[in-house]
Amino acid sequence: MHSWSSFAGSGADNFICILGKVNKDGHMYQSLKETKACVLNFPSNDIYDRCIKTIGNNQFETDEITASGLTAEAALKVNAPRIKECFLNIECEFLWEHELFEGSREAAVALKAVNICMDSERYDQSRLGRYGKNGFLFQIDQPTNPETGETTPFGPGIVEQGKPVPWITE
Ligand SMILES: Cc1cc2nc3c(=O)[nH]c(=O)nc-3n(C[C@H](O)[C@H](O)[C@H](O)COP(=O)(O)O)c2cc1C
Repeated sequence: MHSWSSFAGSGADNFICILGKVNKDGHMYQSLKETKACVLNFPSNDIYDRCIKTIGNNQFETDEITASGLTAEAALKVNAPRIKECFLNIECEFLWEHELFEGSREAAVALKAVNICMDSERYDQSRLGRYGKNGFLFQIDQPTNPETGETTPFGPGIVEQGKPVPWITE
C-alpha cells in the first residue's frame, strides 16, 4: 500500500518509486527479492479500515489481501497481486536497495514503474477525483505536541489541491 512513499518522475520510461523504510524481515521485502516485482496500491479513505487490517494479517502463509476483506487480482505486467479496491495501482520492478545505516534491518528500496492503472472515476477530477476526500491519502504519523510530547489519535491525511501560484522564483 502507499500513503507515505515518494515518487520521482524522470521521463515516461523512468518513473521511480522510493519506499523509504522496508523491513528486511517482513514478507513484502522477501517476496520482492524473490520475484523482483510488486504492486503499489493506493487506498482511499473509504477502504482505510480494511487496509489497516493487512498489518495484522501479516503471517507468511496468510493472503493478507483477502484476509482483510479486500480483493486480490493479477497485475497486468508483473508477477504480483494488485488490490482491486485501490483506485491506483503502480506495477513495479525492483531496481535497487540501500540499508538505512550499516547493519540496519531496514532498507530504502527503489522500484521502476512498468505499468500504471487508475480507476477512471478518480483520474477525472470532475467525478470522484484523485485529490480531496476520495483520492490520495498521506499518512500523518503520530501527531505530537512539541512541548508536552503528547501524541493525539490520527486518521489518514487527505491531499487537497491549493490555489495556483505562478512559479516566479526571482
Ligand atoms: C493504509 C496503509 C498505507 C501504507 N503505506 C505505505 C507506504 O507508503 N510505504 C510503505 O513502505 N509501506 C506502507 N504501508 C505498509 C505496507 O502495506 C506493508 O505493510 C509494508 O510494506 C510491510 O509489508 P509486510 O509487513 O507485509 O512485509 C501501508 C500500509 C497501510 C495499511
